Amino acid sequence: MKRILWIFFSVLFLPVYTFAGHLEPFKNIPVPEQNPQTAAKVELGKKLFFDRRLSGDGTTNCGTCHDPEMGYSDGLEISLHYPTTRNWRNSPTLYNVAFHKYQFHDGRAATLEDQALFPMMSAFELNQNLDYVEEEIRAVPEYVAAFTEVFGDGDTTKERIAMAIAAFERTIVSRDAPLDKYLAGDQSALSAEAEKGYALFIGKGKCTECHFGVNLIDDRFHALNVPENPEHLTDPRIAATRRFVAKVYHFEEYRTLADDPGRYLITKDMKDWKAFKTPTIREITKTAPYMHNGIFATLDEVIEFFNAGGGSGNTVLKPLQLTPEEKGQLKVFLEEGLVGAPLTMTYPKIP
Ligand code: HEC
Ligand code: HEC
Repeated sequence: MKRILWIFFSVLFLPVYTFAGHLEPFKNIPVPEQNPQTAAKVELGKKLFFDRRLSGDGTTNCGTCHDPEMGYSDGLEISLHYPTTRNWRNSPTLYNVAFHKYQFHDGRAATLEDQALFPMMSAFELNQNLDYVEEEIRAVPEYVAAFTEVFGDGDTTKERIAMAIAAFERTIVSRDAPLDKYLAGDQSALSAEAEKGYALFIGKGKCTECHFGVNLIDDRFHALNVPENPEHLTDPRIAATRRFVAKVYHFEEYRTLADDPGRYLITKDMKDWKAFKTPTIREITKTAPYMHNGIFATLDEVIEFFNAGGGSGNTVLKPLQLTPEEKGQLKVFLEEGLVGAPLTMTYPKIP
C-alpha cells in the first residue's frame, strides 16, 4: 500500500518538480508585517548602513562591500574583509534582496532583519561587538532622536538597528527593466538580438528551470560544481575564515576542511554538498565577477560554463549545445534585458 501511495505521489509531483518556472514582471516589494516601511525608518537605516561605527575599528560599513557604485557588491572575486583577515566568498548584490526566502550563498539567514547582525558580529567583516555598538549609537544625540521618531523611544537596540537597515535594504530594487516591459506586452522593449536571447533563456538554454519569477530565482540551492577559486587552497587567511565558520556551524572536521561546503554546512545533508543559492541575475552587468567564489570574470565565461553542462561531476546540468551565435544572443539578453531603471543614491550625512 505504502509503495502504491509513493508511486501515486511521485507521478503527481514529478512534473511540477521538473517544470521550468515562469517569468513575471516586477511587482511590489514584500514587506513583513512586523517591520513596516516608513520614510523615517528607511532614512535611519541608510545612515546606519553607511556608518563606520558599525565596524570594530571604525574603518568600514555595509557599503564598503555593498557599494552602490558597484551594483551593491565590491567588484572582487572574494569580498573585502576586516583588517588582517580575509573573507571567503563573493559579495552578492543587494538588489532585490527583499525577495529572498534565504539570505547568504548558503541560505543561513532567513530574513533581512536576522541577516544584518551577522556582518556586524563577523570576525572577518565588521568585527564589532553588538552590545558595544548599541551604546556607540546611543551616544549620538541625532540617532537617539531618530530612533525616538521611528520606534517611539530612544532605545538603540541591536534588533532595531537591524530593522532600520532591513527597511533601507528593501528600497534597493531593480525594476522596469526591458524584460519587465516586454513581459507586460511591449514587444519593442527588447532588441531583435535580445529577443532571440530571451527565447533561448526560456527555451533551449533552460535557464528558467532555476532563474524564474519576479527576481529570476527559485529560492533553492544547486551543486553546479563551479571551479574552485585557487585562493581557497593557497591563502591561509581564507582557510582560517573557512575553518572558523565551519566550527561555528558544528562541522566536525573543520580543521581539515579544504573547500567551501556550501549549503551542506547548514543542513549536513550530503545532497547539499557544495550547493549554493540561485542568485538573482537582475543588474547582472554591474555585479561581476560571478558565482559564490567570483571565479568567472565575464558573462561569456558564465554562459560557456552552462553550455558545457556545468562543472565536472555535477548531476544537475546537461550540455546545451548552443551555437556561438546563440551564446552571443543569450549574452545580449542578459546585458540589455535585465538592467532596471537607474536607482540614484543620495548619500546620507552621518551624524
Ligand atoms: C567585509 C565585506 C562585507 C561587509 C562589511 C558586509 N557584507 Fe554583506 N555580504 C558580504 C559577503 C561576502 C556576503 C556573502 C556571505 C556568504 O554567503 O556567506 C554578504 C551577504 C550579504 C547579504 C545576503 C545577500 C544574498 O543575496 O544572500 C546581505 C543582505 C548583506 N550581506 C547585507 C549586509 C549588511 C546590511 C551589512 C552591514 C551591516 C553588510 N552586508 C556588510 C560581504 C560584506
Ligand atoms: C539548476 C539551476 C540553474 C540553471 C538551470 C541555471 N542557473 Fe544560473 N545559477 C544557478 C546557481 C545555483 C548559481 C550560483 C552558483 C554559485 O554561486 O556557485 C547561478 C549563477 C548564475 C549567474 C551568476 C550570477 C552571479 O551574480 O554570480 C548567471 C549570470 C547565471 N546563473 C545565468 C544563467 C543562465 C544564462 C542560465 C541558462 C543558460 C542559467 N543560469 C541556468 C542556478 C542555475
